[in-house]
Order: sequence, then C-alpha cells, then structure tokens
Amino acid sequence: MSVSLAKDKIKVLLLEGIHKTAVEAFEAAGYRNVDRRSGTVDARELLDLVHDVHFLGIRSRTQLTADVFAAAERLVGVGAFCIGTNQIDLAAAAAHGVAVFNAPFSNTRSVAELVLAEAILLLRGVPEKNAKAHRGEWAKSVGTSREIRGKTLGIVGYGNIGKQLSVLAEGLGMRVLFHDTADVLPLGNAQPVLHLDELLTKSDVVSLHVPDTPQTHGLFAAPQISLMKEDAVLINASRGSVVDLEALAAALDGGMLAGAAVDVYPTEPKSNDEPFASPLQGVDRALLTPHIGGSTIEAQQNIGAEVAGKLIRYSDNGSTMTAVNVPEVALPPHPGAHRILHLHRNVPGVMAAVNRVFSDLGVNVEAQFLQTRGELGYVVTDVGRGSSAEALAALQSVHGTIRTRVLY
Ligand code: NAI
Repeated sequence: MSVSLAKDKIKVLLLEGIHKTAVEAFEAAGYRNVDRRSGTVDARELLDLVHDVHFLGIRSRTQLTADVFAAAERLVGVGAFCIGTNQIDLAAAAAHGVAVFNAPFSNTRSVAELVLAEAILLLRGVPEKNAKAHRGEWAKSVGTSREIRGKTLGIVGYGNIGKQLSVLAEGLGMRVLFHDTADVLPLGNAQPVLHLDELLTKSDVVSLHVPDTPQTHGLFAAPQISLMKEDAVLINASRGSVVDLEALAAALDGGMLAGAAVDVYPTEPKSNDEPFASPLQGVDRALLTPHIGGSTIEAQQNIGAEVAGKLIRYSDNGSTMTAVNVPEVALPPHPGAHRILHLHRNVPGVMAAVNRVFSDLGVNVEAQFLQTRGELGYVVTDVGRGSSAEALAALQSVHGTIRTRVLY
C-alpha cells in the first residue's frame, strides 16, 4: 500500500546514461529527487540501489530479474528507455505491481532517414565505388547509376517505419507500393499490393520493415530475390531473421541485384568488443551497418522525453497507457477527488469485493475505470476527499490484491 508522496520524496533512479531530456521532464513536472548515472551497475549493486527507489529507468544492458523486483519494495514503475524489454522479467514486475513502459516508436524517423539515404547510395553504386576507392581503384563511370526520382519503392511491412519512409520517399519523387498482412491505411499516394511477389517484380528498391515473427522468419530467401528486377536493390533494417544472408550474398556475387544494404543480422555481437561475421563481408555491393538504424541523438532525446512522460503520467495520474505488462487505462484528471489505484489478480469476485469496501464504508464513488490484461486487473476509483484513507486500508484485504496506491 502506498499513499501519495510529496514529489521531492519520490526517488527516481536513471541508469545507463539515459538522455538528459528525461531529467528535464521529471524536473518540469516537479520531481526533485532524480539521480542520473552514466554507466551500468553490477547485479549486487543494483539490488542495493533499488530498495528505496520509486521509479527506475534503464536501457538495454541492465537486467531486471525477479530478485530485483523482490528487493525493490517501493518500486512503482520502470522505464525501459529503449525499444525492447527482453532485459526485464515482465511477469515478475507485474506480480509485484510494477508497471513497465518503453519507447517503441521514438526512433522511427531515424530508421526511415537511413533507409532513404541507402536507397540513394545503392542506386548510385556508391558502396562498390567506395570499396574500390579504398583499394586504390578509380571507378568513374555513369554505368548503371540512377536517381531515385521516379523509381518505385516497395515497402514490405507498412507499420510505423514503413509509413514514415513512404511519406519521405514520395517527397523525393518516388512511387510507393507496399505489402502488409494487415489492412492498413495508405498514406499519400502509396498503393497497397496484395501479393508480395507482385511488389517484388515491380520495385526498384525493396525495403523490409516487418517484425520478427514465425511468419517473417526467412521471409526473404532465394525465391524472393529471384523475383526482383536485376537492377533492383534490397534494404533490410528490420530484423536479422527476415533475410537469408547466404542467399543474398550468392545473388549479389552472381550479379542478380544492383546492391543491398543490411543493418540487422541473425546473430549480432553483444558488444563492440566482440567480432562481427557475415556472409556479406567482402561483397562490394553490400552496404553493411552495425544495427544503427534507430541510433541517433534525436532518437535518444525523444526516448528520454517519451518514457519519462509515461512514468510521470503514471505517477501523477495513474494512467497506464502503452504499459507493456499491466492493463492499459487512460485516465482523465481528478480535480477535487482522491484517486485510488488497485492492481489485482484477474480472478472472479475482485470487483464485487472492491465495491463492497466502498459501500460498507459509505464512500461515494465519483468515477471508476477498469481494465484487465491476462492475469491482471487494474481498477481506478475516484472518491470524495477525506474518504480514501480507510478505503485504501480495507482494499488491502481484498482477495487478489497486488498493490494499491492513492493519488491526492
Ligand atoms: P510496426 O509494428 O509498426 O510495423 C510492422 C508492420 O509489419 C505491421 O503493419 C504489420 O502488420 C506488418 N507485417 C507483419 N508481418 C508481416 C508480413 N509477414 N508481411 C508483411 N507485413 C507484415 O513496426 P515498426 O515500428 O515499423 O518496426 C518495423 C521493424 O523495424 C521491426 O522489426 C523493428 O524491430 C525494426 N526496427 C529496427 C531498428 C534498427 O535499428 N534497424 C530500429 C527500430 C525498429
């Protein structure tokens, strides 16, 4: 059980050099106790550090195990200031009533810009000319160099990144086709294509923006490559499992494509100290980048502000929108009322018991919001001032209660 703390008592710990936009957001919202550290901490130090922390921010290197959540008695929310949340035991977080937020879309623009730049470089044959220049060869010729203006871009996976790319590419005069398994609204003049094969035969640039699912695993192999135009180029900045790189290397060696740009690999080094190996190494027409599609200063700034904003909303207002492990509830402001947050196991009878507490205590319910997600339920009840303390204490004994909190 926890009651609204004065904001200077709420302790925020940000690890791994999270961008200072996060600190600025907390400070602008009135939080004064924000500790931002540049590096990671080892597992033992983390257990010591988290015991009195209310909000914890990490990036991808800090592992939040069940032990961490057990030690972090006051922890209310975790911000993953990155895209993935694999480093966090989400079930353990939920079991301790800790909401986890991340920033899945903050680097969308960065990826789209890189892809567009690569499309330009590939159609001009720059990767090959660059490789030759480094070897002392002079490859000045028009050859097959083309502008991207007027060319057809085929986007596979028309989600956040695919759509952003679509808009930018049209701005440069490209014609955009896209293929998506979901029914998605085309932006601008982009044209949906029902079958992937049709997109492949018509596109000068094919760019992949699908998620990593069993269906997209190996989606792009020799049969798909063989359908592409001989002078087309392929770009993969989605996930490493989507393209068969042996098949791509063989196609490039055999003169089947004009070039390829690859940012993601089936196995990637875990740190910059580990070696990197790929069948595309030594293939001049392959432009290789080390999974940096979303890695820009702007993306880091956006991530800092976005995730801090989500934690602040959860702290101030109880809203869990876009949380990755607890039910998502969007909440209006609660002027003049006390707001009781109740996170519980999603088992029969909890709501009846919660509302019995209010009626037994004669508490007038002004508004109530409920959402469930898998094994969890989250009910938020706005009650008149002065009646929340007793109710909060009584809610503790409701069967299935995981955590309660009141906001004044
Ligand atoms: P998103 O979820 O917004 O969009 C993915 C789209 O692909 C959805 O519209 C979905 O319906 C569609 N899709 C799923 N399966 C498909 C299939 N078999 N064929 C065609 N379409 C299919 O994802 P978002 O944010 O656009 O990201 C796309 C990819 O980019 C993800 O794999 C993500 O991990 C990756 N990514 C890579 C980065 C990098 O640094 N290179 C940075 C950020 C994201």
